[in-house]
Amino acid sequence: MKRTRWSNQLAFILAAIGSAVGLGNIWKFPYIAGENGGGAFVLVYLVCIAAIGIPIFIAELFIGQHAQCNAVAAFEKLTSKGTPWRVSGWIGVLAAFLILSFYSVVGGWVLSFLTKGIANRFVGQPAEVVRGYMASIIGDAKASIFWHTVFMAIVIGIVIMGIKDGVERWNKVLMPGFFALLVALFVRAAFLPGFPLALTFLFAPDTSRLTAAGILEAVGHSFFTLSVGMGAIITYGSYLGEKQELPRIAFLIGLADTLVAMIAGVVIFSIVFSAGLKPEAGPTLMFQTLPVLFASMAGGYYIAVAFFLLVLFAAVTSAVSLLEVVVAYVDEHWNLNRTKGTLLVGGVIYTLGLLCATSNNLLSHVTVLGYNFFSLFDTVSSNYLLPIGGLLISLFYGWVLGKKAIRSTLGAHADSPFWLHSLLWCARILAPVGVFLVLLNSILPGGILALLGIASER
Ligand code: PFF
Repeated sequence: MKRTRWSNQLAFILAAIGSAVGLGNIWKFPYIAGENGGGAFVLVYLVCIAAIGIPIFIAELFIGQHAQCNAVAAFEKLTSKGTPWRVSGWIGVLAAFLILSFYSVVGGWVLSFLTKGIANRFVGQPAEVVRGYMASIIGDAKASIFWHTVFMAIVIGIVIMGIKDGVERWNKVLMPGFFALLVALFVRAAFLPGFPLALTFLFAPDTSRLTAAGILEAVGHSFFTLSVGMGAIITYGSYLGEKQELPRIAFLIGLADTLVAMIAGVVIFSIVFSAGLKPEAGPTLMFQTLPVLFASMAGGYYIAVAFFLLVLFAAVTSAVSLLEVVVAYVDEHWNLNRTKGTLLVGGVIYTLGLLCATSNNLLSHVTVLGYNFFSLFDTVSSNYLLPIGGLLISLFYGWVLGKKAIRSTLGAHADSPFWLHSLLWCARILAPVGVFLVLLNSILPGGILALLGIASER
């Protein structure tokens, strides 16, 4: 059977940006930055993107492109059958299930806000009314389940059409459109009274507000936002044909992804500080701030509709890449056809998502380790599975595939000692050790410093 291939390099880059840029940038980043005190959290996040996220992105692209198969089989194909490294692929498949099940619920919220925008429910309404919409959606089991169903149906439909016809065509138009609208909102936010405070909040680090849990969250989010640590980029990389400049592509995608998150953060916090709201509002933050801005803007009706349409698109392209990880595996492993495989996997994820859709209403009394299902799936996947998956992928790339692979990744720059040693060092030591220390720090009561403190007292 002939494997699908991206039509050209641009199509691939746009698809990879489509996977990376999503709800993580515009919904999750601002709210977790708000919960963790802003600047210092953002700094850790940016360092992680540059020093850990981008090298792992490169590693995943390389693994995918050379293996030309799904993320579990890739590790076997590049070493030997039954290799323990395939656990990294398993972690990815599990993470895809968990992430997509809550991601789809948030995608559903976006859909519901899109219909509110179309029905002109923002413009001219008092801010309290607009802000109240969110509570009424998450508190309503029927609405949450309905919109989760619609969102999953869209994603399943696109994955059935196939990655090429489904994703490529729309990406070319809508991703640039999304970026342009975000820049326009940024310009508008620059005239709000809360704009300077938003900049200070996000970019002036106050290390006293950083906790071990906050550092772990920043590391986890740097994986989540770049879609690394779980084989999504291995899978997309496996549809790449001829040689490409992988480091350049990874850098470009990392830059685009970071820019979107920063712009979204500044816009949202400008509204927060202009309206005297609290930065630590949690997962509802985006939905309680942006519609208020649209309500009072010239052309607010059209901007609201365009905005939610584009966020929906960004969410769908990311969700498609999550589903694709599992579908590629199931199709190739069990020899299922694409339609059957997608319906099967999508159905299971949809069912799991029902737990998330009802975790703020029907099942709000059910908690596991103090989390409802929605936050449990988010925390387990983003803060643990992705970093552990990423740690294994970078060890595999740096030590098992080794110097030869890194040279081959660098192509024309393979003779530059600077690039060779930087990538080698990041993949072999910095990324795995950094992730390990952060995980350890968050598990030990009192963190690593307390451990060192005890050691120095002895
Ligand atoms: N990167 C996506 C976002 O920021 O919304 C989420 C995501 C997609 C995570 C694909 C992981 C993944 F494999």
